[in-house]
Amino acid sequence: MTQINYNETVMDHFMNPRNMGEMENPDAVGEAGNPVCGDVMKIFLKIENDRIIDVKFKTFGCGAAIASSSMATELMKGKTIEEALKITNEKVTEALGGLPEAKLHCSLLAEEALKVAIENYRSKRKKGE
Ligand code: FES
Repeated sequence: MTQINYNETVMDHFMNPRNMGEMENPDAVGEAGNPVCGDVMKIFLKIENDRIIDVKFKTFGCGAAIASSSMATELMKGKTIEEALKITNEKVTEALGGLPEAKLHCSLLAEEALKVAIENYRSKRKKGE
């Protein structure tokens, strides 16, 4: 087995993930899975006036997936929907100070789950729910 070395920021977010858990009555929910490893992330958003005022996540995945979910949720808090859509996995990885090459794909889960959640929010609004 190859040893994966994570930097301190990644280890911190992996060991003490921010915003982990479930949310009651979220305004939007999004889920994304990684077909290669089978890991899954679910994200819950509270949105007011098109701004993300709270966010929670649940990730069933590796250390890099948990750390990037944690960092991604920190980045999206307080952002408008438009701004949040610009949070790419590169931005999350950068904020983490980098991820080992073999683990870069793990940070995609957060970006994808967020996009699904925003689509979910927009379609609910269209339906007037
Ligand atoms: Fe599956 Fe990292 S190995 S998300």
